[in-house]
Amino acid sequence: ADGDAVAGAKVFKKCAACHVATEAKNRVGPHLVGIVDRPMASVEDYKYSKAMTEHAAEVPTWTEEALDAYLRDPRGVVKGTKMAFAGLKKDDEVANVIAYLKDPSAA
Ligand code: HEM
Repeated sequence: ADGDAVAGAKVFKKCAACHVATEAKNRVGPHLVGIVDRPMASVEDYKYSKAMTEHAAEVPTWTEEALDAYLRDPRGVVKGTKMAFAGLKKDDEVANVIAYLKDPSAA
């Protein structure tokens, strides 16, 4: 999926209440620097839910495919996650936000 990072920066506004993607700073959620292909639940100073750490044992890496599935339905994919977000509904939103996360400097 070849998304558009500039459009993805706009989509990221839906995430920005809880996440920073441009510096290693946690908010309500863990920072998302380098999240594409980052090991799941791996930010040392962030306290993940039990659901997320258990999910990491099954799906160890945030591949684009894993992000795509999670961002469409966070609470369906990681049952018990404390990420209170309903999910992105549109294919282009998902592809674009992943493109943004891959390279925020391109936005
Ligand atoms: C976790 C992405 C929206 C709160 C995560 C993770 C990703 C992610 C990839 C896992 C990180 C890791 O394994 O280190 C996104 C994206 C969003 C979004 C791209 C927007 C489309 C939100 C919003 C909130 C939020 C709006 C707050 C209302 C959290 C929390 C966690 C988390 C609390 C930790 C979950 C747990 O430990 O169960 N997010 N998120 N996220 N996110 Fe988000």
